[in-house]
Amino acid sequence: MSSSTAIPWNELREQARHATATSYAPYSHVTVGACAITTDGRFVVGANVENASYGLTLCAECSLVSDLARVGGGRLRAISIVAGDAKPIAPCGRCRQVLFEHGGNELLVDAGDGVDPTPLRELLPGAFGPADLDVRKSQ
Ligand code: THU
Repeated sequence: MSSSTAIPWNELREQARHATATSYAPYSHVTVGACAITTDGRFVVGANVENASYGLTLCAECSLVSDLARVGGGRLRAISIVAGDAKPIAPCGRCRQVLFEHGGNELLVDAGDGVDPTPLRELLPGAFGPADLDVRKSQ
């Protein structure tokens, strides 16, 4: 898929909504699904997986990144995040960092708020990433 190809937002949103049914959220009861398309046109999905220790909960976006690795890796181009209650859900700070690693500044993020998808650079300005380690390797 070239960068000029239209992003299939409706399909991303629908698959993300569908993924909420696979969420494991017995503690918060907030089910979250995510679906992304890679730069080469593959779909990856995820759903949140909670834990009795609460802090070890895996967000839908983390689960999606695991799916990305499972299907061969690559770069994320656009992602839709959907809550089971259909209300907008912002990606948490940790997930913004996790997504940055695999999609970078240009990753488009739809959080179901009805506004145009937002580039990750606006959700995580000045992000720390792999390049910050690369510049140190040569020293
Ligand atoms: N959650 C996500 O899956 N993604 C986010 O970006 C925000 C929060 C989940 C984690 C937890 O299972 C539930 O929503 C309530 O915080």
